[in-house]
Amino acid sequence: PEAGPLAGRHALVTSGPTHEPIDPVRYIANRSSGKQGHAIAAALARLGARVTLVAGPVTLPDPPGVTTLHVETAREMLAACEAALPADIAVMAAAVADWRVAREATQKLKKEPGAEAPSLTMALNPDILATISRHARRPSLVIGFAAETEQVVEHAIAKRARKGCDWILANDVSGDVMGGDANRIHLVTDSGVEDWPEMAKAEVAARLAARIAAALG
Ligand code: C5P
Repeated sequence: PEAGPLAGRHALVTSGPTHEPIDPVRYIANRSSGKQGHAIAAALARLGARVTLVAGPVTLPDPPGVTTLHVETAREMLAACEAALPADIAVMAAAVADWRVAREATQKLKKEPGAEAPSLTMALNPDILATISRHARRPSLVIGFAAETEQVVEHAIAKRARKGCDWILANDVSGDVMGGDANRIHLVTDSGVEDWPEMAKAEVAARLAARIAAALG
């Protein structure tokens, strides 16, 4: 077993986008790279935690020393997270698709000559962060993200209450944060808001892991 301040702790981390299939060859996705979530999983492992990373489709390698489970859809991500419980820590960094196509076509949708473009009927995906925050086996520290383009901190405070998580890491994604290497975080907890300077995603991960270790004593 690893030494370190998080030795003996189990951390669950989500990362990356989800892919929501339309038909066997098409899907709906988003621009999440998984860089921040993967860096957090690696940082927690470096502090001695046993880490389960539930990763959507990303091009990143699996972080060393981390058990990585690969999923595609939001529903698969939720199932993998629930199966990974119990955990002491949950960090939900994935950019989960809010909606999926209500009925996935079993055959490729065909473009018939002269026919109109199809309409997609969408269905709501489960909210993984909210589900884990209110779970019977809720981890003692549940952390979510809030990517906002305006009123970043106000929205994050409201989101923390709505989701039922302990901390929210809020960041302004109006620039090129998604896919980029740097991040500027506002950490929202029950005792207020901390503004972190802009730093590399790896540094955000290390700082968060250290905060988690301090919080869990
Ligand atoms: O509601 P919003 O997507 O802005 O919330 C972002 C936070 O919620 C992130 O921590 C994200 O991982 C999590 N989330 C989730 N499942 C969803 C939507 C968001 O876990 N379906």
